[in-house]
Amino acid sequence: MNRRYRKTIIAGNWKMNKTLSETRAFADAFKAILPKVKTCDVVLCVPSVNLQGAIRAFKDCRVSVGAQNVHYEASGAYTGEVSPAMLSDLGVKYVIIGHSERRQYYNETDFTVNKKVHAALAAGLRPIVCVGESLEQRELGVTMELVEYQVKAALSGVTAENVRRVTVAYEPLWAIGTGKTATAEQAGEVCSHIRAVIRGLYGARVARSITIQYGGSMNGSNAAELLAQPDIDGGLIGGASLDPEKLLPIIEAAGQEQT
Ligand code: PGA
Repeated sequence: MNRRYRKTIIAGNWKMNKTLSETRAFADAFKAILPKVKTCDVVLCVPSVNLQGAIRAFKDCRVSVGAQNVHYEASGAYTGEVSPAMLSDLGVKYVIIGHSERRQYYNETDFTVNKKVHAALAAGLRPIVCVGESLEQRELGVTMELVEYQVKAALSGVTAENVRRVTVAYEPLWAIGTGKTATAEQAGEVCSHIRAVIRGLYGARVARSITIQYGGSMNGSNAAELLAQPDIDGGLIGGASLDPEKLLPIIEAAGQEQT
């Protein structure tokens, strides 16, 4: 990571985990151990039904609350969906867009990801856009091309001014929830390519200001090595974000790296 130009963001993705009572219990335990000195931004993306409760529970500390999905329309007949304005009005700061589980189980496409990015930015939210290849695609040797396509599609039509509020999360599908992490070199190589793609689209100044995260079985033991890569500026963390004692070492690792 490179603190001179961009934010380090450690974001938890709770997926479909934790009731409101469990969210409050996590907040109490986490606040008791979270260092007061801010060495990175901390975000927790919770289920939509618990967003308001989470905002209250983390009100008096430096944790920002994020959502895990958003609809691209402002309002209307979309049963079960949540609009960007509903999130920003609650005080939600971040929203994950295009997570591989949404792409896999809920027909999220590069086209809808792009529409959601525009809608989220228009509502003042900070999108965390997920990209990444499957094991099959990695073995075919098309990782770089695929990730480049996903980034370009997600950011299509986004202005240079607005793109500064976007975080890109590189999450190789084969590393998510599997306990199998990409090596620091593998992850670093793809994150560098993502920055090069953004440089090609928006120029060097914008590219160096964008936070690029790695996600996929990141934990307290591998975080420091991953975050030492020059183009990895944080993590999107699933499993290890559910337990304050497991999330803390990742935040500490982000604090130790001072380059
Ligand atoms: P994991 O999930 O840390 O449990 O692998 C990461 C993610 O899906 O964002």
